Amino acid sequence: MHNFDDLVHAAAAAFAATDDPDALEQIKASFLGKSGQITALLKGLAKLPPDERKTVGAAINRAKESVEAALNGRREAIRRLALEARLAEEALDVTLPGRGQSRGGLHPVTRTLERIDGLFRSIGFDVADGPEIEADFQNFTALNTPADHPARSMHDTFYLQDQLGGVAEGILLRTHTSPIQVRYMQAHVARYAGLETMPEIRVIAPGRVYRVDSDATHSPMFHQVEGLWVGQRVSFADLKGVVNDFLRRFFESDDLQVRFRPSFFPFTEPSAEIDMAFMSGALKGRWLEIAGCGMVHPNVLRHVNIDPEKYIGFAFGMGPDRLTMLRYGVNDLRLFYDGDLRFLRQFV
Ligand code: FA5
Ligand code: MG
Repeated sequence: MHNFDDLVHAAAAAFAATDDPDALEQIKASFLGKSGQITALLKGLAKLPPDERKTVGAAINRAKESVEAALNGRREAIRRLALEARLAEEALDVTLPGRGQSRGGLHPVTRTLERIDGLFRSIGFDVADGPEIEADFQNFTALNTPADHPARSMHDTFYLQDQLGGVAEGILLRTHTSPIQVRYMQAHVARYAGLETMPEIRVIAPGRVYRVDSDATHSPMFHQVEGLWVGQRVSFADLKGVVNDFLRRFFESDDLQVRFRPSFFPFTEPSAEIDMAFMSGALKGRWLEIAGCGMVHPNVLRHVNIDPEKYIGFAFGMGPDRLTMLRYGVNDLRLFYDGDLRFLRQFV
């Protein structure tokens, strides 16, 4: 009676000795592979006398089945071990506090621009925009500021270079949003060309502007919001009413003073700077210029083919960066553009 128990035990022990799936397959080959021990036994059967072959063959086959069973058991065990190891490694501690998604927020000046937009829309103003790279004509000439006008030097700006490195004729970064007045009026006149009397123009135009400026209340890139109301019966009193009402709604306060200080702009007559101050709080009594304004100069209307004998209007150019300073009590406007998150996060 042949007994291959030792061989089966040896195989089982060898399988148990590894937990690596590749090594296990190697060990399997040494028993069940082409030149494995069990395969050799089966090959040896041929040399046995026929009467022994049957019993020995059956014993070898039982041994082979036992080895295969041991192999499969080990394969399964190794697979489970690997899974457990992975689960342990990837375990989540659901009781840990989350890392937190930081929520983005709008830039404080953007908030101001959105507020301005909403307030002027609510009183029937359209909202327009125009190019930041502007033609000399719209930025100056059409605004009654010819090439030799001294007011140009108050708006020292960034002129664009042509491809040869010279100054490109008549192309610059706009110094104010007033050129949008010109563009908007031109489009309006063209659109209502057939009418005896054109509808009123009521528009604001927010955007970035550029000047060679830098101190606590001046930044080289800043924002303006242009306002324009042109019709047949528009007065300086309307301008004061619109501005006063706007500022009280913007700051949600009646506790502020507004003053119209006589000034000069080539494109308005008369002209004024608008200053404001709070009457209480941390900024109490600090006057800050927030806008320039005036009645649109007849020459500007003529430049865009509007008859100054029939139509009249006011315009203003406001500084929303300064409104933001006042609203949040910030004393240096350049902080808005330093990109320091410690500063900006306070407004989220
Ligand atoms: C103008 O730019 C005129 N275009 C305003 C205007 C429009 C007058 C329509 C009449 C009719 P001024 O240079 O004063 O004017 O600028 C207007 C406002 O922009 C200022 O009151 C101020 O609030 C803001 N501002 C001007 N320069 C800067 C700067 N460098 N940084 C931040 N804000 C500025
Ligand atoms: Mg000014």
